Amino acid sequence: MSESEQLKLLKERRSIRSYDSRDIEAEILNQILEATRWCMSARNRQPWTFYVIRNKELIKKIAKECTTGPFTAGAPVLVAIVGDMELSPNWYLHDTCFASLQLALAAWSLGIGTCWVGRINRENVKKLLNLKETDHLLTVLPLGYPKGEIPEPRPRKSLDEIVKYIE
Ligand SMILES: Cc1cc2nc3c(=O)[nH]c(=O)nc-3n(C[C@H](O)[C@H](O)[C@H](O)COP(=O)(O)O)c2cc1C
Repeated sequence: MSESEQLKLLKERRSIRSYDSRDIEAEILNQILEATRWCMSARNRQPWTFYVIRNKELIKKIAKECTTGPFTAGAPVLVAIVGDMELSPNWYLHDTCFASLQLALAAWSLGIGTCWVGRINRENVKKLLNLKETDHLLTVLPLGYPKGEIPEPRPRKSLDEIVKYIE
């Protein structure tokens, strides 16, 4: 059986840490955000806001706060994913994580790369974005057309290692 395009998308996505200087067209960015909007969320609360940053000065300032993501400085667009802790106190983390994956996959399907950034001085970025106390900055996703070769796949555990069939 041949593999569907959707399954290929899931398996062929790579984290991209180097971006072409070419800007991302507004229409393409809109398609990515539009697809992300359809992400699942607990009780369909959709406790998220996506801050799109194109301002080069602001990108530089935010990148300085991305401890394990200095490559964000080279992206033409950053999307800060922010969860509303008030709106969905139990599930804002799950929901925004799912949204980040949906955004990454939508971007990849349109030829645009991103990479999750884990360690961020979140309080400093919250100030830069004028976020509220009850806002949780999940991550900042850099978006850009990949520069150079697409990285080789990172190794994955085999199915034998991670799947247990219960008889
Ligand atoms: C929660 C999370 C945090 C991550 N944090 C970082 C990070 O801070 N810096 C980085 O370069 N990559 C980060 N990554 C990317 C992973 O290193 C990458 O997904 C993994 O090595 C598998 O590679 P692939 O995404 O190309 O398949 C993170 C990924 C996740 C899901």
